[in-house]
Amino acid sequence: AAKDGRAAGSYDFLVVANRLPVDRAGDSPDDGWKRSPGGLVTALAPIMEKSDGAWIGWVGSPDEEIEPFEHDGMALVPVGLSASEVELYYEGFSNATLWPLYHDVIAPPEFHRTWWDAYRRINERFALAVLSRAADHATVWVQDYQLQLVPAILRARRPDLRIGFFNHIPFPPPEIFSQLPWRRQVLEGLLGADLVGFQRPNDALNFARAARRYGGAGGKGTNLLVGRGERAVHAEAFPISIDTDRISQLARHPEIQERARQIRHDLGDPKTIMLGVDRLDYTKGIRHRLKAFEELLVDERVKVGEVTLVQVASPSRERVEQYRLLREEVEGTVGRINGAFDTLQHTAVRYLHHNYPVEEMVALYLAADVMLVTALRDGMNLVAKEYVAARYDGSGALVLSEFTGAADQLKQALLINPHDIAGLKEAMVAAINLPPGAASRRMKAMRRQIIVHNVEEWSAAFLNRLSEVTHG
Ligand code: G6P
Repeated sequence: AAKDGRAAGSYDFLVVANRLPVDRAGDSPDDGWKRSPGGLVTALAPIMEKSDGAWIGWVGSPDEEIEPFEHDGMALVPVGLSASEVELYYEGFSNATLWPLYHDVIAPPEFHRTWWDAYRRINERFALAVLSRAADHATVWVQDYQLQLVPAILRARRPDLRIGFFNHIPFPPPEIFSQLPWRRQVLEGLLGADLVGFQRPNDALNFARAARRYGGAGGKGTNLLVGRGERAVHAEAFPISIDTDRISQLARHPEIQERARQIRHDLGDPKTIMLGVDRLDYTKGIRHRLKAFEELLVDERVKVGEVTLVQVASPSRERVEQYRLLREEVEGTVGRINGAFDTLQHTAVRYLHHNYPVEEMVALYLAADVMLVTALRDGMNLVAKEYVAARYDGSGALVLSEFTGAADQLKQALLINPHDIAGLKEAMVAAINLPPGAASRRMKAMRRQIIVHNVEEWSAAFLNRLSEVTHG
């Protein structure tokens, strides 16, 4: 039992994230659940099974009260959100305040007290779900910007817990972060953790500077001290990765290779296929990519029929205003480009506003000679790593924005500043014409990186460090 005579729960390891790692398998609730795509689940599922763990999160649709259930050997604990809570906490504070603020204010963040109130209330709800289920001295790993207040709530009520937090998105410089009217509360929330993890060393530094300036923390560098200096909080970088083996294996699968050939054929067998894969988000630099491509067509440095750009833009946060505006702009631009340059036979841009299963994604990676990752700001960007994982024969070229976390690991990519349209165009042309020998040297070096540094290594590194810093 925990202190104060409160009954502790029975789980030794709890993951708390905005979303549960499952999606509905069909349209009706009777269809059950399937595991969501993405590395985080892959990395954590084995740990959860071994250590008697549970995952706490939202099922992704409003007004659902679902009892805890098991899936794939994982205990899942749904947290319910009403329609208005989804609007205020998820669409509002998480994705129209924090998301743009943390991504270099590419879109203007909105500050509304009603959104903040909901964010606090919902963070409290997630924390309560942990409190009743965490065993004495359990490890709790809180994920991402939607839940920054959870660490301190847990700390206040259950000092026995070992608390880690990982921020999947960038942490902005204090000069930008300081715009947030609730900056102190957010920092105090995060400082409830023993270990606060980030994608890049600079994110950890930004957080530490903000924590000292606005969050009442002391200490030096990224080793912070809180509460009259007696408790240590460590801010460190743990760059996330992917399930490299799984993607590599899929890429070697004959059926998926056949599908890649089919895709090329369906596009009219152009000499070069360029590919973009993103959530339809203004941080991804899709407009910059389209502008560069359009100019290359106008300049006649690429020709329709020889080069095709395939842009997969998966639907995302569609009720948030900035996402609606972006969609209109991207779809207008694609229509304009295709109207001007398509022939009856060939298209300039094949735009797909869909979600695809991982098998289809890997086939697309195999079909693409050039991968374009032009994000204006991105915590990591796993698409870049997946492309590299799929290119097991060492061919292919990756054009990668230096403003992604992935640029720290994939140093042999053709690194670009997406704001520099002229530079982006040159890199795209260079990628199209990259000699096979040079391409292969670059790709093989990048593959070595992600084969060693996969998502399993990432979670192990974080959790080992968490147990190290809490054993003092
Ligand atoms: C980013 C965030 C995640 C989030 C994902 C999808 O990767 O870091 O926390 O789950 O985007 O966004 P969504 O709003 O659909 O959960």
